[in-house]
Amino acid sequence: RTVAVILAGGSGQRMGLSTPKQLLKIAGKTILEHTLCVFQEAPDIDEILVLMNPGFLNDAAECVKKAGCSKVTAVLPGGTSRNATTQLALDALADHPADSTNVLFHDAVRPLLSQRIIRDCVTALREHLAVDVAIPSADTIIQVDEDVIVDVPRRANLRRGQTPQGFRLATIRAAYEKAWRDDGFEATDDCSVVLRYLPGTPIYVVPGDEHNMKVTEPVDMFVADKLFQLASSDAPDLTEDQYAEALTGKTVVVFGAS
Ligand code: CTP
Repeated sequence: RTVAVILAGGSGQRMGLSTPKQLLKIAGKTILEHTLCVFQEAPDIDEILVLMNPGFLNDAAECVKKAGCSKVTAVLPGGTSRNATTQLALDALADHPADSTNVLFHDAVRPLLSQRIIRDCVTALREHLAVDVAIPSADTIIQVDEDVIVDVPRRANLRRGQTPQGFRLATIRAAYEKAWRDDGFEATDDCSVVLRYLPGTPIYVVPGDEHNMKVTEPVDMFVADKLFQLASSDAPDLTEDQYAEALTGKTVVVFGAS
């Protein structure tokens, strides 16, 4: 059995609005609704849990209703950090068998996730205890200490982590049990919790997708909107190469044209 946990407990400080970004609308639907629909449509997903910013639980319930998400079994309050929200989801799964349940944790604010990524994660969990999703980095990543470079790791070995991150329930539970006993515990994702607190557990990486972006800053709303336009049925059926050419102005593309 595979459970998708939608992490929507954040408040979107970097977006700078009073409404959390997961409730902003793109292409006629909230970001949360888009994300829920992808998991609802995934044949491998049996159940969906939504962990929402506690001040907006009713809005999340409304999104579930609007998206017609029959797989959602609960909308629960999230915690004060992403990791605290993950722990609350693990608590809510207390009655699920640890050895036969897989969990996929997904950022609510990655609404352009593909069915292929979900399928690859579920398939990888047949053989692996933990799985991450990542893409190569176009940028050189520098490591700094107070604005001074201390290292420039070889770009070919670096990936940009996305979500979902998938685990056998027993694995992620064990990792978090150890993590909370460590006073210095701090993380921005769940795979690093397994890496640090269950050392030696291989974490398999499946390829992500540039479209599976995390809506974080205001500019991301424009990019996500454009990507939804491309994916929508009334957009011209262009390949990404053709689209790139269209942006040079050599070809005129009219959205909504039949
Ligand atoms: N998240 C969560 N619980 C928290 C904090 C974050 O479930 N206490 C979720 C967010 O809702 C989001 C995902 O984790 O779907 C990725 O986090 P991020 O993009 O950092 O979201 P926010 O914390 O909302 O944004 P910011 O850091 O700008 O405040």
